[in-house]
Amino acid sequence: MGSKLLVLCLGLLGLPCLVMAAAPMKPINVPFQKNYVPTWAFDHIKYINGGTEAQLVLDKYTGTGFQSRGSYLFGHFSMDIKMVPGDSAGTVTAYYLSSQNSEHDEIDFEFLGNRSGQPYILQTNVFTGGAGNREQRIYLWFDPTKDYHSYAVLWNMYQIVFFVDEVPIRIFKNNKHIGVRFPFNQPMKMYSSLWNADDWATRGGLEKTDWSKAPFIASYRGFHIDGCEADAKDSVCATQGKRWWDQKAFQDLDGIQYRRLKWVREKYTIYNYCTDRARIPTMPTECVSDRDV
Ligand SMILES: *[C@@H]1O[C@H](CO)[C@@H](O)[C@H](O)[C@H]1NC(C)=O
Repeated sequence: MGSKLLVLCLGLLGLPCLVMAAAPMKPINVPFQKNYVPTWAFDHIKYINGGTEAQLVLDKYTGTGFQSRGSYLFGHFSMDIKMVPGDSAGTVTAYYLSSQNSEHDEIDFEFLGNRSGQPYILQTNVFTGGAGNREQRIYLWFDPTKDYHSYAVLWNMYQIVFFVDEVPIRIFKNNKHIGVRFPFNQPMKMYSSLWNADDWATRGGLEKTDWSKAPFIASYRGFHIDGCEADAKDSVCATQGKRWWDQKAFQDLDGIQYRRLKWVREKYTIYNYCTDRARIPTMPTECVSDRDV
């Protein structure tokens, strides 16, 4: 994402991105209050430095969560998150876009905690028209509890891309032409939450949350949203096609990005619904078309 913009920018006389991109990208480091409001357990969110950072707190009473003020059709969404450190087994930190209806669309990042020193799992999923079952699971190539890392979604008419820092870890193209539903007409809100899921999260539920280690804290900053704000009946977002995320450079991954995705598949992928023949006997059509296997 960032790297691609950088190429666009530096390619032409080294002018800064904001000048070069046809439509300016909104700033990445904005305070919580600009784009988000708490959803539940308001007293379990702590604001630091005037809301430039926020911490979600999970204890034995409750977890907590927040959601975007607006609803969006397409755009670029990113967040820097530092996952719950130490013994985080049983906890799940989620960051996802979701529409609010029953046949809902959803684009999910879920970070499954672990015992101290054991690796987190990042699970992603895509729901379209209420249908999911598209799980992928990867290990990260860094310890996500040590520093902030950026987790981003690019969503336009052509593709949905999940990024970890600059690396595309998943692509879901608009494969409407081969009969795969794509989120294109239902606005979504961005959500994040931290909760206890020790019935399934760590080693399939074998590892339980150790409440003597509570409170569990996930830290956030960079509450970036650059999307087309929409209400349920709005069609402007789907037709205007003039935003930066609609430009050619963002309609498909480039060669370098496909190589990075392949690297993630080869070295860090531990589960991919695309290759789970036991559960899904024929490979889903989007997997072939997306070159994400
Ligand atoms: C937790 O650690 C165990 C042992 O290394 C590993 O098998 C598992 O995939 C890790 N992650 C989760 C979320 O269970």
